[in-house]
Amino acid sequence: MIQTEDMEFAPRIITPENTTEDSDVEISLRPQTLHEYIGQEKVKENLAIYIEAAKRRSEPLDHVLLYGPPGLGKTTLSSIIAHELGVNLRVTTGPAIEKPGDLVSLLTSLSDNDVLFIDEIHRLSRAVEEILYPALEDRVIDIIIGKGPSARSIRMDLKPFTLIGATTRAGQLSAPLRDRFGVIQRLELYTKEQLTDIVRRSSMILGIPCTSDGAAEIAGRARGTPRIANRLLKRVRDFADVMGNGQITQEIASIALSRLDIDNLGLDGLDRRMLEMIIKGYGGGPVGLETLASAINEESVTLEDICEPFLMQLGFLGRTPRGRVATRLAYEHLGITPPEQQTAPPDDGQMSF
Ligand code: ADE
Repeated sequence: MIQTEDMEFAPRIITPENTTEDSDVEISLRPQTLHEYIGQEKVKENLAIYIEAAKRRSEPLDHVLLYGPPGLGKTTLSSIIAHELGVNLRVTTGPAIEKPGDLVSLLTSLSDNDVLFIDEIHRLSRAVEEILYPALEDRVIDIIIGKGPSARSIRMDLKPFTLIGATTRAGQLSAPLRDRFGVIQRLELYTKEQLTDIVRRSSMILGIPCTSDGAAEIAGRARGTPRIANRLLKRVRDFADVMGNGQITQEIASIALSRLDIDNLGLDGLDRRMLEMIIKGYGGGPVGLETLASAINEESVTLEDICEPFLMQLGFLGRTPRGRVATRLAYEHLGITPPEQQTAPPDDGQMSF
């Protein structure tokens, strides 16, 4: 859940980050096979070949790095990969592996060809990462026993395994770690049509009556992200139950989403505050990310990981070497008259590049 210090702003319903409330529903909605998984066609096609090849050779799948904005299905894909390979999946996250010993016990507990999934792999500590290099490359780990001059290093063989790393920030991975992944796949934001299919599939699984228009309305406001689409589905269902006859129609969905402060393109209050600050506070930009984040009292990673991919996909935001700029489309969407020629404000020395 995104925290905002200023209580004037309610927590965002459209954060793509995983929340505890999501987990049970997400698991029940999670497709189990590549065939059931909607969207990411290129990634699916490639993975299907690599999985089939690994199975035919009875070898582990090469290590896989999945990257892209949050909520697009990196965890889901890793459970599908393990399922399709017919092996066990162990799931953990970078920050949860605090000490090298934590990783050693994870790696030594795997069975042949198992999949180890590490979410937020860019947050592994340096010491833990160093254990990972020989594990990935030569399937061994070097354990140091003792301290000081009498310390000895023992090399231990590992069973064949596949690491799937997931990250929203591929650029933050160290080069030696990135180089050890044989398969690197980027997940893209979903189209409205794909999200409509996902909402229809989820509503069938959850037994929620939903018209095609209702599903499309939710999909169109889910900012390209299945996790958000499924969360909105649950919220809109509440409105349908209380204000209607339980069926999600386009009208109910539209009323519900507006009440949730999500506009017709899926922008929420934070997206609009960000654009409005660029436009009204900085003459349309360019403005550095850190300056912008503190001006609206938000964390820069939230703006960068969550707002920006979507605003850039809509063509509302540009990134230049001197900072973020709002485009003409952003002005129009917010109902603000764009200047004849957008000019940069004087450099205040706070640009964060
Ligand atoms: N639920 C969440 N993501 C999904 C996807 N990509 N395909 C099908 N169902 C999903």
